[in-house]
Amino acid sequence: MNEHPTEHPAPVPEPAAAEPPASAPEQSGDRARRRRAIIWGAAALAAVVVAALALGAVRWADERSARDEYRTVLEQWQTVDDDAPGALPAELAGLDAEIAAARALSAALPEPLVGAELKAALDGAAATAQQTAEQHGGVVDGRGTAATSEPEGAAELRAATRRIETALAEREEAARDADAALAAVTGQRAAVVAAVDAARGALAAAVADQAATLTGASAEAQQALATASGVLAAAPLAEVAASATALTAALDAMRAEHEAAAETAAAANVDDPASITVVVNKQRPLNPISWQPGDLRMPAGIPNPNGQPVRAEAATALEAMYAEAAAAGVPFIITSGYRGYGLQTSLFESYTARDGLAAAETYSARPGHSEHQTGLAVDLDDGSGCAFDSCFGDTATGRWLRENGHRFGFILRYDAGQEPVVGFIYEPWHFRYVGPQVAGDMRARGITNLEDYFGLPVAPTY
Ligand code: DAL
Ligand code: ZN
Repeated sequence: MNEHPTEHPAPVPEPAAAEPPASAPEQSGDRARRRRAIIWGAAALAAVVVAALALGAVRWADERSARDEYRTVLEQWQTVDDDAPGALPAELAGLDAEIAAARALSAALPEPLVGAELKAALDGAAATAQQTAEQHGGVVDGRGTAATSEPEGAAELRAATRRIETALAEREEAARDADAALAAVTGQRAAVVAAVDAARGALAAAVADQAATLTGASAEAQQALATASGVLAAAPLAEVAASATALTAALDAMRAEHEAAAETAAAANVDDPASITVVVNKQRPLNPISWQPGDLRMPAGIPNPNGQPVRAEAATALEAMYAEAAAAGVPFIITSGYRGYGLQTSLFESYTARDGLAAAETYSARPGHSEHQTGLAVDLDDGSGCAFDSCFGDTATGRWLRENGHRFGFILRYDAGQEPVVGFIYEPWHFRYVGPQVAGDMRARGITNLEDYFGLPVAPTY
């Protein structure tokens, strides 16, 4: 706008012929009025523009501040540490599985074996854990949602900011609850696992204690028990009840064999010195102590340089065994058979004089405690220089006798490693006649001594 019209006057139109020409003062007043009008108009317009600009600036600043607040609260939303609500369901599922394992183990524990206290401890741990699971099962993911599309304008931004602040407060409270729940559930998981581990250890110990008393069980049954015990020790929680049941079953199998052995012992008569199943050891002297058999005879056709007989039934069995051994190229000789109380006395005394009492007692029985006095034991040799020596066990004859003796009713009475049970060192030359039924059964069940087979106490010493 031109604010100085006087400097550049617009062309003045020609007055109409009919009108009187304006006087000079009149013309000057109009111009002034017009000029004022123009100035006021321009000023008003400028004021409107300035006001508009100022208002715009205020709005812009306000929106900017609202957007800053909005972004700040969004940043807070991003930085809240709330892993716990997400982790909690998995932790609760883990606890559920562990509670189930603990309850299953408790049900599988044989109470007479482990005692009511252990079961109660396990059930108690499961119940406490269950309460914790129920108490914290309702804690859910309190994350909610923040705004997804950015609002426009200060008012919308502020409204969105308030909504997020409210959600944020709820979310922080939920996260705190979830943290507490997670800690409680994690603690219970550890408690249940510890209770299960204690129970499995106690079961294994109780089973081992019981098994130690179950004489007469086969080597297979004992091996099965050891294997089941190892499986239980290493079993994952989900399989702990099943492996506890398997271990208990292995113990039951051992007990059944022990009871069968006890029955066999009762039927077999291990006490009567005339019985072919009489058991003589450091704890079980012959009764009477100087008993002697009435049916001794010399086995026919077998070299017997000391000329010692055996009981008739054992002699017949020896003859049959000798025939097969000779046919197999492993004939043997008899270096000792029946030794009466008197002969055993002089032998034992000579060994004691030679080696001292302690040493002699590892390989020679006191009189009245020797199987040779029953007429059912023989010492065998092959003449290769291993007579009464452990090397006899490695000879072809020694091996054949070990593998085949049972078919004729003979057992290797003092096997390697049996000293704690039988009381004597390894004597691969000493065979005892017990009859083919007992010898075959011992072989089938992998039982290597009469004490175990008949369920009798061990006899390491007198
Ligand atoms: N050599 C065995 C143990 C005995 O003297 O009867
Ligand atoms: Zn002997």
